[in-house]
Amino acid sequence: MCGITGYLGGREACPILIDGLRQLEYRGYDSAGIALVNECGELHVYKEKGKVQDLEAGLAGKNISGHLGIAHTRWATHGEPSAVNAHPHVSSSGRFAIVHNGIIENYAVIRRNLEKKGYAFKSSTDTEVLVQLIDYVASCSDSDTVAVLQEVLDEIVGAYAIALIDMKYPDRLFAARKSSPLAVGIGDDEFIVASDISPIAGNADKVMYLGDEEIAEMHRDGSLHIVNLSNAECRHEILAVPKNLGRTRKDGFDHFMLKEIFEQPSSLTDCMRGRVDVVGKTVTLSAVREHKDRLLAAERFIIVACGTSWHAGLIGKQMIENFCRIPAETVYASEFRYSNPVIRSSDVVIAISQSGETADTLAAVELARSKGAFIYGICNAVGSSIPRATDTGSYIHVGPEIGVASTKAFTGQVTVLAMLALDIAREKNTIDDRTYAGMIEELASIPEKMRVVLRTNDSIASLAKMFTYAKNFIYLGRGYSYPAALEGALKLKEISYIHAEGYPAAEMKHGPIALIDEEMPVVIIATHNALYEKILSNVQEIKARKGRVIAIVSEGDTAISDIADTVIEIPETIECLDPLLVSVPLQLLAYHIAVCKGKDVDRPRNLAKSVTVE
Ligand code: G6P
Repeated sequence: MCGITGYLGGREACPILIDGLRQLEYRGYDSAGIALVNECGELHVYKEKGKVQDLEAGLAGKNISGHLGIAHTRWATHGEPSAVNAHPHVSSSGRFAIVHNGIIENYAVIRRNLEKKGYAFKSSTDTEVLVQLIDYVASCSDSDTVAVLQEVLDEIVGAYAIALIDMKYPDRLFAARKSSPLAVGIGDDEFIVASDISPIAGNADKVMYLGDEEIAEMHRDGSLHIVNLSNAECRHEILAVPKNLGRTRKDGFDHFMLKEIFEQPSSLTDCMRGRVDVVGKTVTLSAVREHKDRLLAAERFIIVACGTSWHAGLIGKQMIENFCRIPAETVYASEFRYSNPVIRSSDVVIAISQSGETADTLAAVELARSKGAFIYGICNAVGSSIPRATDTGSYIHVGPEIGVASTKAFTGQVTVLAMLALDIAREKNTIDDRTYAGMIEELASIPEKMRVVLRTNDSIASLAKMFTYAKNFIYLGRGYSYPAALEGALKLKEISYIHAEGYPAAEMKHGPIALIDEEMPVVIIATHNALYEKILSNVQEIKARKGRVIAIVSEGDTAISDIADTVIEIPETIECLDPLLVSVPLQLLAYHIAVCKGKDVDRPRNLAKSVTVE
């Protein structure tokens, strides 16, 4: 994973790079570093274990001048988080400094060969191997830097986005990529390269995205040359940097996660804007209009995603099957890509990803595409890699999500999946008028109902205090609420580090029931729906074994409320939309437990917002 950035131009590089790292911290934050070339042609490298703010603090009083620099915020793959393993890495001769996002899979063999040639390594990273190899190849000939990179990158197996300084050319910045994203911002005689557009916004008006296996050579005079590994010149469309990439702030909330939970009524309104028409009683997704024939001809939908997006996919599968009567399956992208899946040209593959950059999801898209399937992306980050690699798609339009634990993106994904299923079902005539109209009305009322659910915040905060002791939690749900239970458990694990299992409620008796005793909190989603009576029996089974039941029930519920230890009431909705409302108390519960335990809610240990390595 990791975020990389680099600057070459007339301004001081350091503040631009540090600011860029802050924007990229969602990609990892276990250590950070910066390399700067000053006007005397000296290279200074500073690295710290910890977050970008730790690096910034460490720079106080240091020589940080320079108009050329590269910087990195890390999520450890090879080697523990430490200052030594932090990037930039500098080659033994001191000629090259590199920052890297990705994984060099054949690093061990390259390292052994370099060690035999006398190269010594300071870190345990694959990246240091890469920079030493560049150094070695450069030392063997008079080739220019680009030719050296072509030779080295051809030898590399794996994924990389790199920014490189060659001290022989202190007026140039080099960058290259394969499978990991890299944007090149173009200003007035200046360049900013970065893992995404955010460090570029506000610094340059134009941007282009480097293609796979391409190398960019940027000069201080403003010239830019791009070639591929075979030395063919490459040209790319130069795009305007969107003006509205405003800085995201906490707006008075203690954490981004809480802000994003509270934003959901408005983010879902944005998500449905121009798509759900309550007056005309229609749902229209432009991608469905444009690709109607292809989507209606689909014999199967395969949904690929990771993490929270996969949970949204499980709900989407049920919606597509229920409304469109088309077989659908939801698969972890990381499993799909290596499972030799049967993919037919009549399949539609839906890739769900908040970031649009998840490496496994992107690889699943590429695999499905190579087999002729039609690919539909459901993403949040506009212009990210997955939307660019798909045939069509729908953005969820919920705005930037900063908290590592996904909240508003999940509800946005579920909302888009509902709209997609409804739009296709309408076109296929697999939904009756009453159900269709009822769904539209209900979808439109979700933001208001969410506002009602958010009023439970204070009581959930008090409830959370009672559960900080817990080492384990069980989350149960059935039907559409089962993926919601999985998502609730994931939220708790991610930010409070409490082990939590999501389970289909009826499956509990095939194993997890053995875990239940008076210590075990069981969160059970027990809203009024077709399986309510069954859930009631499941609650009885837990209470009979003295489990502590926290039930999420529909307003006015009595039966479950009578036996559960605690109930959280939410407004009633149509069963398939229940996850939208149910998620809110689950998000709040996880949030408040984590806060009570003093955890870093927005940047939990070992996680990253965007997983750009497999
Ligand atoms: C990481 C994030 C999760 C996210 C998952 C998939 O694990 O921490 O919140 O659900 O990646 O990310 P994506 O951007 O593809 O939805």
